Amino acid sequence: MSGSAKRSVTITLDGSNKSVSIPLIEATVGTPVFDIRKLYGDLGVFTYDPGYGGTAACESKITYIDGDEGILLYRGYPIEQLAEKSTFLEVCYLLMEGALPTATQFKDFELGVMRHTMLHEQIREFFNGFRRDAHPMAVMCGVVGALSAFYHDSLDIHDPASRTISAFRLIAKIPTIAAWAYKYNCGQPFMYPQNDLGYAENFLYMFHAVPAEPYKVNPILARAMDLIMILHADHEQNASTSTVRLAGSTGANPFACIAAGIASLWGPAHGGANEAVLKMLAEIGHVKNITGFLSEVKDKGSHTKLMGFGHRVYKNYDPRAKIIQKACHEVLSELGIKDDPLLDLAMELEKIALNDKYFVDRKLYPNVDFYSGIILKAMGFPTSMFTALFAVSRTVGWISQWQEMIADPEQRIGRPRQIYTGAPQRDYVPISTRG
Ligand code: CMC
Repeated sequence: MSGSAKRSVTITLDGSNKSVSIPLIEATVGTPVFDIRKLYGDLGVFTYDPGYGGTAACESKITYIDGDEGILLYRGYPIEQLAEKSTFLEVCYLLMEGALPTATQFKDFELGVMRHTMLHEQIREFFNGFRRDAHPMAVMCGVVGALSAFYHDSLDIHDPASRTISAFRLIAKIPTIAAWAYKYNCGQPFMYPQNDLGYAENFLYMFHAVPAEPYKVNPILARAMDLIMILHADHEQNASTSTVRLAGSTGANPFACIAAGIASLWGPAHGGANEAVLKMLAEIGHVKNITGFLSEVKDKGSHTKLMGFGHRVYKNYDPRAKIIQKACHEVLSELGIKDDPLLDLAMELEKIALNDKYFVDRKLYPNVDFYSGIILKAMGFPTSMFTALFAVSRTVGWISQWQEMIADPEQRIGRPRQIYTGAPQRDYVPISTRG
Protein backbone atom coordinates (compact mmCIF):
# COMPACT_ATOMS: atom_id res chain seq x y z
CA MET A 1 0.00 0.00 0.00
CA SER A 2 1.39 3.39 -0.94
CA GLY A 3 0.26 5.30 2.21
CA SER A 4 2.31 5.06 5.39
CA ALA A 5 0.90 4.58 8.89
CA LYS A 6 1.53 7.35 11.41
CA ARG A 7 -1.22 6.31 13.84
CA SER A 8 -2.50 2.96 15.02
CA VAL A 9 -4.86 1.33 17.50
CA THR A 10 -4.08 -1.68 19.62
CA ILE A 11 -6.82 -4.22 20.04
CA THR A 12 -6.68 -6.62 22.97
CA LEU A 13 -9.10 -9.50 23.07
CA ASP A 14 -10.85 -9.56 26.46
CA GLY A 15 -10.04 -12.68 28.44
CA SER A 16 -6.93 -13.53 26.43
CA ASN A 17 -3.34 -12.32 26.36
CA LYS A 18 -3.51 -11.68 22.61
CA SER A 19 -3.31 -8.18 21.16
CA VAL A 20 -2.56 -6.67 17.78
CA SER A 21 -1.50 -3.23 16.60
CA ILE A 22 -3.65 -2.04 13.69
CA PRO A 23 -2.00 0.67 11.58
CA LEU A 24 -4.14 3.53 10.25
CA ILE A 25 -3.29 4.31 6.61
CA GLU A 26 -4.05 7.87 5.48
CA ALA A 27 -5.77 8.51 2.15
CA THR A 28 -4.69 11.40 -0.12
CA VAL A 29 -8.13 12.86 0.62
CA GLY A 30 -11.02 11.30 2.47
CA THR A 31 -11.45 8.52 4.95
CA PRO A 32 -8.34 6.70 6.25
CA VAL A 33 -8.39 2.92 6.64
CA PHE A 34 -7.32 0.46 9.30
CA ASP A 35 -5.05 -2.15 7.75
CA ILE A 36 -6.53 -5.27 9.34
CA ARG A 37 -4.47 -7.83 7.44
CA LYS A 38 -2.74 -9.06 10.61
CA LEU A 39 -5.96 -9.30 12.61
CA TYR A 40 -6.75 -12.92 11.81
CA GLY A 41 -3.17 -14.15 12.12
CA ASP A 42 -2.55 -12.39 15.46
CA LEU A 43 -5.98 -12.49 17.10
CA GLY A 44 -7.72 -15.30 15.24
CA VAL A 45 -10.82 -13.21 14.40
CA PHE A 46 -12.38 -11.92 11.19
CA THR A 47 -14.21 -8.62 10.66
CA TYR A 48 -17.92 -8.67 9.82
CA ASP A 49 -19.31 -6.07 7.40
CA PRO A 50 -22.21 -7.29 5.25
CA GLY A 51 -22.60 -5.05 2.20
CA TYR A 52 -19.03 -3.76 2.80
CA GLY A 53 -20.36 -0.39 4.05
CA GLY A 54 -17.20 0.21 6.10
CA THR A 55 -14.65 -1.84 4.18
CA ALA A 56 -12.05 -0.66 1.66
CA ALA A 57 -11.43 -3.66 -0.59
CA CYS A 58 -8.52 -2.15 -2.53
CA GLU A 59 -6.27 0.83 -2.98
CA SER A 60 -7.25 2.99 -5.98
CA LYS A 61 -6.13 6.22 -7.62
CA ILE A 62 -8.98 6.48 -10.11
CA THR A 63 -12.17 7.95 -8.62
CA TYR A 64 -12.92 9.77 -5.37
CA ILE A 65 -16.35 10.38 -3.84
CA ASP A 66 -17.14 12.53 -0.82
CA GLY A 67 -20.67 11.36 -0.10
CA ASP A 68 -21.41 13.95 2.59
CA GLU A 69 -20.39 16.89 0.44
CA GLY A 70 -21.67 15.46 -2.87
CA ILE A 71 -18.24 15.54 -4.54
CA LEU A 72 -17.14 13.26 -7.38
CA LEU A 73 -13.62 13.44 -8.84
CA TYR A 74 -12.14 11.42 -11.71
CA ARG A 75 -8.35 11.34 -11.21
CA GLY A 76 -8.76 14.51 -9.12
CA TYR A 77 -10.87 16.47 -11.63
CA PRO A 78 -14.40 17.51 -10.49
CA ILE A 79 -17.19 15.89 -12.48
CA GLU A 80 -18.77 19.33 -13.07
CA GLN A 81 -15.63 20.54 -14.92
CA LEU A 82 -15.30 17.37 -16.96
CA ALA A 83 -19.02 17.46 -17.84
CA GLU A 84 -18.72 21.04 -19.06
CA LYS A 85 -15.33 21.03 -20.75
CA SER A 86 -14.26 17.51 -21.66
CA THR A 87 -15.45 14.73 -23.97
CA PHE A 88 -16.17 11.10 -23.18
CA LEU A 89 -13.12 9.81 -25.06
CA GLU A 90 -10.86 12.29 -23.28
CA VAL A 91 -12.38 11.09 -19.98
CA CYS A 92 -11.63 7.51 -21.07
CA TYR A 93 -7.98 8.46 -21.54
CA LEU A 94 -7.96 10.23 -18.18
CA LEU A 95 -9.44 7.25 -16.33
CA MET A 96 -7.16 4.74 -18.01
CA GLU A 97 -3.90 6.71 -18.04
CA GLY A 98 -4.27 8.91 -14.95
CA ALA A 99 -3.72 12.29 -16.65
CA LEU A 100 -5.35 14.44 -19.30
CA PRO A 101 -3.79 13.77 -22.72
CA THR A 102 -1.77 16.15 -24.88
CA ALA A 103 -3.23 16.73 -28.36
CA THR A 104 -0.94 14.05 -29.87
CA GLN A 105 -1.66 11.54 -27.13
CA PHE A 106 -5.38 12.10 -27.60
CA LYS A 107 -5.18 11.65 -31.38
CA ASP A 108 -3.33 8.35 -30.96
CA PHE A 109 -5.78 7.20 -28.29
CA GLU A 110 -8.82 8.11 -30.38
CA LEU A 111 -7.36 6.22 -33.34
CA GLY A 112 -6.49 3.28 -31.09
CA VAL A 113 -10.06 3.00 -29.80
CA MET A 114 -12.01 3.86 -32.94
CA ARG A 115 -10.19 1.37 -35.15
CA HIS A 116 -11.65 -1.45 -33.01
CA THR A 117 -15.34 -0.55 -33.32
CA MET A 118 -16.27 -3.40 -35.67
CA LEU A 119 -17.23 -6.82 -34.34
CA HIS A 120 -15.85 -10.05 -35.74
CA GLU A 121 -18.30 -10.82 -38.54
CA GLN A 122 -19.16 -14.18 -37.00
CA ILE A 123 -20.50 -12.38 -33.91
CA ARG A 124 -23.41 -11.24 -36.14
CA GLU A 125 -24.52 -14.89 -36.20
CA PHE A 126 -24.33 -15.03 -32.43
CA PHE A 127 -27.16 -12.47 -32.13
CA ASN A 128 -29.50 -14.79 -34.08
CA GLY A 129 -29.40 -17.25 -31.20
CA PHE A 130 -31.41 -14.88 -28.98
CA ARG A 131 -35.17 -14.45 -28.93
CA ARG A 132 -36.22 -11.22 -30.65
CA ASP A 133 -37.71 -9.95 -27.40
CA ALA A 134 -34.56 -10.62 -25.33
CA HIS A 135 -33.68 -7.81 -22.94
CA PRO A 136 -30.66 -5.87 -24.32
CA MET A 137 -28.79 -6.50 -21.05
CA ALA A 138 -29.25 -10.27 -21.51
CA VAL A 139 -27.81 -9.96 -25.02
CA MET A 140 -24.94 -7.81 -23.75
CA CYS A 141 -24.00 -10.27 -20.98
CA GLY A 142 -23.88 -13.04 -23.57
CA VAL A 143 -22.15 -11.24 -26.43
CA VAL A 144 -19.52 -9.47 -24.29
CA GLY A 145 -18.65 -12.77 -22.58
CA ALA A 146 -18.42 -14.36 -26.03
CA LEU A 147 -15.80 -11.83 -27.17
CA SER A 148 -13.21 -13.94 -25.35
CA ALA A 149 -13.98 -16.70 -27.85
CA PHE A 150 -13.11 -14.36 -30.74
CA TYR A 151 -10.08 -12.34 -29.62
CA HIS A 152 -7.61 -14.97 -28.43
CA ASP A 153 -4.65 -12.76 -29.30
CA SER A 154 -5.31 -10.32 -26.42
CA LEU A 155 -6.15 -12.69 -23.56
CA ASP A 156 -2.74 -12.78 -21.85
CA ILE A 157 -3.50 -10.68 -18.79
CA HIS A 158 0.19 -10.59 -17.77
CA ASP A 159 1.16 -8.81 -20.99
CA PRO A 160 0.56 -5.02 -20.74
CA ALA A 161 0.20 -4.68 -24.54
CA SER A 162 -2.51 -7.39 -24.58
CA ARG A 163 -4.30 -5.68 -21.73
CA THR A 164 -4.32 -2.38 -23.61
CA ILE A 165 -5.67 -3.99 -26.79
CA SER A 166 -8.41 -5.73 -24.80
CA ALA A 167 -9.28 -2.42 -23.13
CA PHE A 168 -9.48 -0.65 -26.53
CA ARG A 169 -11.55 -3.50 -27.95
CA LEU A 170 -14.03 -3.40 -25.08
CA ILE A 171 -14.47 0.38 -25.11
CA ALA A 172 -14.76 0.40 -28.92
CA LYS A 173 -17.07 -2.59 -29.40
CA ILE A 174 -19.51 -2.11 -26.52
CA PRO A 175 -21.54 0.62 -28.33
CA THR A 176 -21.75 -1.62 -31.41
CA ILE A 177 -23.02 -4.52 -29.27
CA ALA A 178 -25.59 -2.32 -27.48
CA ALA A 179 -26.85 -0.76 -30.73
CA TRP A 180 -27.11 -4.19 -32.38
CA ALA A 181 -28.97 -5.61 -29.37
CA TYR A 182 -31.59 -2.93 -30.02
CA LYS A 183 -31.64 -3.43 -33.80
CA TYR A 184 -32.09 -7.15 -33.24
CA ASN A 185 -35.06 -6.41 -30.93
CA CYS A 186 -36.85 -4.34 -33.51
CA GLY A 187 -35.89 -6.45 -36.52
CA GLN A 188 -33.93 -3.72 -38.32
CA PRO A 189 -30.61 -4.35 -40.12
CA PHE A 190 -27.46 -3.89 -38.06
CA MET A 191 -25.69 -0.62 -38.86
CA TYR A 192 -21.90 -0.81 -39.06
CA PRO A 193 -19.87 1.72 -37.06
CA GLN A 194 -18.62 4.89 -38.78
CA ASN A 195 -15.16 5.64 -37.45
CA ASP A 196 -15.10 9.23 -38.72
CA LEU A 197 -17.90 10.08 -36.28
CA GLY A 198 -17.33 10.93 -32.61
CA TYR A 199 -17.76 8.12 -30.07
CA ALA A 200 -21.24 9.13 -28.86
CA GLU A 201 -22.25 10.30 -32.33
CA ASN A 202 -21.30 6.92 -33.81
CA PHE A 203 -23.39 5.18 -31.16
CA LEU A 204 -26.44 7.32 -31.97
CA TYR A 205 -25.86 6.65 -35.67
CA MET A 206 -25.75 2.85 -35.20
CA PHE A 207 -28.83 3.07 -32.99
CA HIS A 208 -31.08 5.34 -35.05
CA ALA A 209 -29.93 5.02 -38.67
CA VAL A 210 -31.26 2.53 -41.22
CA PRO A 211 -29.51 1.60 -44.50
CA ALA A 212 -32.48 2.82 -46.60
CA GLU A 213 -31.81 6.52 -46.07
CA PRO A 214 -29.08 8.93 -44.99
CA TYR A 215 -28.98 9.81 -41.30
CA LYS A 216 -27.39 12.87 -39.73
CA VAL A 217 -26.92 12.78 -35.99
CA ASN A 218 -28.24 15.89 -34.22
CA PRO A 219 -25.09 17.51 -32.69
CA ILE A 220 -26.99 18.66 -29.60
CA LEU A 221 -28.13 15.09 -28.94
CA ALA A 222 -24.62 13.77 -29.63
CA ARG A 223 -23.28 16.19 -27.01
CA ALA A 224 -26.02 15.13 -24.56
CA MET A 225 -25.12 11.46 -25.14
CA ASP A 226 -21.45 12.26 -24.62
CA LEU A 227 -22.33 14.04 -21.36
CA ILE A 228 -24.41 11.11 -20.11
CA MET A 229 -21.46 8.83 -20.88
CA ILE A 230 -19.04 11.08 -18.95
CA LEU A 231 -21.35 11.08 -15.91
CA HIS A 232 -21.56 7.28 -15.86
CA ALA A 233 -17.92 6.51 -16.74
CA ASP A 234 -16.74 5.45 -13.28
CA HIS A 235 -17.94 5.49 -9.70
CA GLU A 236 -15.35 3.98 -7.37
CA GLN A 237 -15.96 0.51 -5.88
CA ASN A 238 -19.68 0.08 -6.61
CA ALA A 239 -21.28 -3.37 -6.97
CA SER A 240 -20.50 -3.92 -10.66
CA THR A 241 -16.93 -2.58 -10.39
CA SER A 242 -16.30 -4.77 -7.37
CA THR A 243 -17.71 -7.69 -9.36
CA VAL A 244 -15.26 -6.97 -12.18
CA ARG A 245 -12.38 -6.77 -9.70
CA LEU A 246 -13.41 -9.98 -7.93
CA ALA A 247 -13.78 -11.89 -11.20
CA GLY A 248 -10.47 -10.41 -12.41
CA SER A 249 -8.67 -11.36 -9.20
CA THR A 250 -8.90 -15.00 -10.26
CA GLY A 251 -7.00 -14.28 -13.48
CA ALA A 252 -10.16 -14.47 -15.64
CA ASN A 253 -9.84 -12.72 -19.01
CA PRO A 254 -11.10 -9.11 -19.32
CA PHE A 255 -14.05 -9.94 -21.60
CA ALA A 256 -15.36 -12.46 -19.05
CA CYS A 257 -14.81 -9.92 -16.23
CA ILE A 258 -16.73 -7.15 -18.02
CA ALA A 259 -19.57 -9.60 -18.77
CA ALA A 260 -19.72 -10.25 -15.01
CA GLY A 261 -19.84 -6.47 -14.41
CA ILE A 262 -22.73 -6.11 -16.86
CA ALA A 263 -24.65 -8.85 -15.03
CA SER A 264 -24.11 -7.07 -11.71
CA LEU A 265 -25.11 -3.69 -13.14
CA TRP A 266 -28.44 -5.07 -14.36
CA GLY A 267 -30.09 -5.20 -10.90
CA PRO A 268 -32.69 -2.52 -10.01
CA ALA A 269 -30.69 -1.44 -6.94
CA HIS A 270 -27.79 -0.53 -9.28
CA GLY A 271 -27.85 0.32 -13.01
CA GLY A 272 -31.33 -1.08 -13.51
CA ALA A 273 -32.70 1.82 -11.44
CA ASN A 274 -32.99 4.17 -14.45
CA GLU A 275 -35.39 1.75 -16.11
CA ALA A 276 -37.22 1.26 -12.80
CA VAL A 277 -37.64 5.05 -12.35
CA LEU A 278 -39.61 5.36 -15.58
CA LYS A 279 -41.77 2.37 -14.70
CA MET A 280 -42.40 3.96 -11.29
CA LEU A 281 -43.32 7.34 -12.82
CA ALA A 282 -45.69 5.62 -15.25
CA GLU A 283 -47.33 3.78 -12.36
CA ILE A 284 -47.73 6.97 -10.31
CA GLY A 285 -49.26 8.52 -13.43
CA HIS A 286 -50.25 11.89 -12.00
CA VAL A 287 -49.06 14.47 -9.47
CA LYS A 288 -52.21 13.85 -7.42
CA ASN A 289 -51.05 10.27 -6.75
CA ILE A 290 -47.61 11.22 -5.34
CA THR A 291 -48.67 11.40 -1.68
CA GLY A 292 -50.31 7.99 -1.83
CA PHE A 293 -47.25 6.51 -3.52
CA LEU A 294 -44.89 7.98 -0.92
CA SER A 295 -47.04 6.54 1.88
CA GLU A 296 -46.54 3.13 0.29
CA VAL A 297 -42.77 3.73 0.08
CA LYS A 298 -42.66 4.65 3.76
CA ASP A 299 -44.59 1.53 4.74
CA LYS A 300 -41.80 -0.97 5.49
CA GLY A 301 -44.11 -3.89 4.79
CA SER A 302 -44.64 -2.80 1.16
CA HIS A 303 -41.03 -3.27 -0.06
CA THR A 304 -41.67 -0.34 -2.44
CA LYS A 305 -38.67 1.98 -2.91
CA LEU A 306 -38.57 5.47 -4.34
CA MET A 307 -36.41 4.49 -7.31
CA GLY A 308 -33.68 6.96 -8.27
CA PHE A 309 -33.40 8.07 -4.64
CA GLY A 310 -30.81 7.11 -2.04
CA HIS A 311 -27.24 5.98 -2.34
CA ARG A 312 -24.82 3.95 -0.27
CA VAL A 313 -22.19 6.71 -0.41
CA TYR A 314 -24.01 9.99 -1.17
CA LYS A 315 -25.79 11.42 1.85
CA ASN A 316 -26.25 14.62 -0.12
CA TYR A 317 -27.39 15.46 -3.67
CA ASP A 318 -25.60 13.18 -6.16
CA PRO A 319 -23.59 15.73 -8.23
CA ARG A 320 -24.37 13.74 -11.39
CA ALA A 321 -28.12 14.14 -10.75
CA LYS A 322 -27.77 17.95 -10.71
CA ILE A 323 -25.92 17.96 -14.05
CA ILE A 324 -28.34 15.55 -15.68
CA GLN A 325 -31.38 17.49 -14.48
CA LYS A 326 -30.03 20.61 -16.22
CA ALA A 327 -29.23 18.64 -19.39
CA CYS A 328 -32.76 17.25 -19.31
CA HIS A 329 -34.23 20.74 -19.71
CA GLU A 330 -31.78 21.57 -22.53
CA VAL A 331 -32.51 18.39 -24.49
CA LEU A 332 -36.27 18.72 -24.11
CA SER A 333 -36.11 22.31 -25.31
CA GLU A 334 -33.87 21.30 -28.28
CA LEU A 335 -36.42 18.66 -29.20
CA GLY A 336 -39.22 21.21 -28.96
CA ILE A 337 -40.86 19.40 -26.04
CA LYS A 338 -42.32 22.29 -24.07
CA ASP A 339 -44.08 20.30 -21.38
CA ASP A 340 -43.04 16.80 -20.54
CA PRO A 341 -45.53 15.32 -18.08
CA LEU A 342 -42.89 12.81 -16.89
CA LEU A 343 -40.36 15.55 -16.12
CA ASP A 344 -43.05 17.62 -14.36
CA LEU A 345 -44.06 14.58 -12.33
CA ALA A 346 -40.43 13.74 -11.47
CA MET A 347 -39.71 17.32 -10.35
CA GLU A 348 -42.81 17.44 -8.17
CA LEU A 349 -41.98 14.02 -6.71
CA GLU A 350 -38.44 15.20 -5.94
CA LYS A 351 -39.72 18.38 -4.30
CA ILE A 352 -42.19 16.53 -2.10
CA ALA A 353 -39.70 13.80 -1.12
CA LEU A 354 -36.97 16.32 -0.26
CA ASN A 355 -39.35 17.95 2.21
CA ASP A 356 -40.60 14.71 3.71
CA LYS A 357 -39.26 13.74 7.14
CA TYR A 358 -38.74 10.09 6.10
CA PHE A 359 -36.31 11.07 3.32
CA VAL A 360 -34.76 14.00 5.23
CA ASP A 361 -34.00 11.82 8.28
CA ARG A 362 -32.37 9.14 6.13
CA LYS A 363 -30.50 11.65 3.95
CA LEU A 364 -32.08 10.26 0.79
CA TYR A 365 -31.49 12.48 -2.25
CA PRO A 366 -31.98 11.96 -5.99
CA ASN A 367 -29.20 9.90 -7.57
CA VAL A 368 -28.01 9.87 -11.18
CA ASP A 369 -30.80 7.52 -12.21
CA PHE A 370 -33.65 9.79 -11.18
CA TYR A 371 -33.42 12.01 -14.26
CA SER A 372 -31.34 9.92 -16.68
CA GLY A 373 -34.35 7.86 -17.80
CA ILE A 374 -36.30 11.00 -18.71
CA ILE A 375 -33.52 12.39 -20.88
CA LEU A 376 -32.89 9.01 -22.52
CA LYS A 377 -36.60 8.58 -23.27
CA ALA A 378 -36.72 12.04 -24.85
CA MET A 379 -33.71 11.06 -27.00
CA GLY A 380 -35.71 8.17 -28.44
CA PHE A 381 -34.38 5.25 -26.40
CA PRO A 382 -36.81 2.57 -25.27
CA THR A 383 -36.82 1.91 -21.51
CA SER A 384 -35.19 -1.49 -21.98
CA MET A 385 -32.07 0.22 -23.39
CA PHE A 386 -31.42 2.50 -20.40
CA THR A 387 -29.28 0.09 -18.40
CA ALA A 388 -27.51 -1.04 -21.56
CA LEU A 389 -26.46 2.58 -22.10
CA PHE A 390 -25.17 2.69 -18.53
CA ALA A 391 -23.09 -0.42 -19.34
CA VAL A 392 -21.69 1.23 -22.49
CA SER A 393 -20.54 4.23 -20.44
CA ARG A 394 -19.26 2.25 -17.44
CA THR A 395 -17.11 -0.14 -19.49
CA VAL A 396 -14.18 2.29 -19.36
CA GLY A 397 -14.45 2.52 -15.57
CA TRP A 398 -14.56 -1.25 -15.23
CA ILE A 399 -11.59 -1.77 -17.51
CA SER A 400 -9.54 0.99 -15.84
CA GLN A 401 -10.20 -0.55 -12.41
CA TRP A 402 -9.37 -4.01 -13.78
CA GLN A 403 -6.08 -2.69 -15.23
CA GLU A 404 -5.21 -1.01 -11.94
CA MET A 405 -5.91 -4.23 -10.06
CA ILE A 406 -3.77 -6.40 -12.35
CA ALA A 407 -0.86 -3.95 -12.03
CA ASP A 408 -1.16 -3.78 -8.22
CA PRO A 409 1.67 -5.81 -6.58
CA GLU A 410 -0.58 -6.43 -3.55
CA GLN A 411 -3.31 -7.99 -5.66
CA ARG A 412 -4.48 -11.42 -4.47
CA ILE A 413 -7.49 -13.52 -5.31
CA GLY A 414 -10.57 -11.98 -3.68
CA ARG A 415 -11.74 -14.49 -1.11
CA PRO A 416 -13.99 -13.13 1.69
CA ARG A 417 -14.61 -15.17 4.84
CA GLN A 418 -17.81 -15.56 6.85
CA ILE A 419 -19.18 -16.05 10.31
CA TYR A 420 -20.57 -19.55 10.28
CA THR A 421 -23.82 -19.90 12.23
CA GLY A 422 -24.97 -23.27 10.86
CA ALA A 423 -24.99 -26.66 12.55
CA PRO A 424 -21.76 -27.82 14.20
CA GLN A 425 -20.23 -31.10 13.01
CA ARG A 426 -22.67 -34.02 13.31
CA ASP A 427 -22.83 -37.62 12.11
CA TYR A 428 -24.80 -38.88 9.14
CA VAL A 429 -27.92 -40.84 10.07
CA PRO A 430 -29.32 -43.43 7.61
CA ILE A 431 -32.78 -42.45 6.22
CA SER A 432 -34.39 -45.57 7.72
CA THR A 433 -33.50 -44.48 11.26
CA ARG A 434 -34.45 -40.77 10.92
CA GLY A 435 -37.52 -39.85 12.93
N1 CMC B 1 -36.77 4.58 -1.01
C1 CMC B 1 -37.23 4.41 0.25
N2 CMC B 1 -36.43 4.17 1.31
C2 CMC B 1 -35.11 4.07 1.06
C3 CMC B 1 -34.57 4.23 -0.23
C4 CMC B 1 -35.46 4.49 -1.29
N3 CMC B 1 -35.02 4.67 -2.53
N4 CMC B 1 -33.23 4.08 -0.18
C5 CMC B 1 -32.93 3.83 1.11
N5 CMC B 1 -34.07 3.83 1.85
C6 CMC B 1 -34.18 3.66 3.31
C7 CMC B 1 -33.94 2.21 3.73
O1 CMC B 1 -35.15 1.49 3.73
C8 CMC B 1 -33.34 2.39 5.10
O2 CMC B 1 -34.39 2.74 5.98
P1 CMC B 1 -34.35 2.23 7.54
O3 CMC B 1 -33.11 2.85 8.13
O4 CMC B 1 -35.61 2.72 8.12
O5 CMC B 1 -34.28 0.73 7.48
C9 CMC B 1 -32.50 3.64 4.95
O6 CMC B 1 -33.10 4.40 3.91
C10 CMC B 1 -31.04 3.35 4.63
O7 CMC B 1 -31.00 2.64 3.41
P2 CMC B 1 -30.13 1.35 3.11
O8 CMC B 1 -31.01 0.31 2.50
O9 CMC B 1 -29.34 0.96 4.31
O10 CMC B 1 -29.16 1.93 2.04
P3 CMC B 1 -28.16 1.12 1.12
O11 CMC B 1 -26.91 1.89 1.11
O12 CMC B 1 -28.08 -0.31 1.54
O13 CMC B 1 -28.87 1.16 -0.31
C11 CMC B 1 -29.51 1.87 -2.46
C12 CMC B 1 -28.54 2.07 -1.30
C13 CMC B 1 -29.06 2.73 -3.63
C14 CMC B 1 -29.50 0.40 -2.91
C15 CMC B 1 -30.93 2.28 -1.98
O14 CMC B 1 -30.94 3.64 -1.62
C16 CMC B 1 -31.98 2.02 -3.06
O15 CMC B 1 -32.46 0.89 -3.18
N6 CMC B 1 -32.36 3.07 -3.86
C17 CMC B 1 -33.29 2.88 -4.95
C18 CMC B 1 -32.60 2.25 -6.13
C19 CMC B 1 -31.69 3.22 -6.85
O16 CMC B 1 -32.08 4.35 -7.15
N7 CMC B 1 -30.50 2.75 -7.19
C20 CMC B 1 -29.50 3.54 -7.95
C21 CMC B 1 -28.30 3.89 -7.13
S1 CMC B 1 -27.26 5.12 -7.94
C22 CMC B 1 -26.70 4.40 -9.38
C23 CMC B 1 -26.00 3.10 -9.22
O17 CMC B 1 -25.24 2.90 -8.29
O18 CMC B 1 -26.17 2.26 -10.11
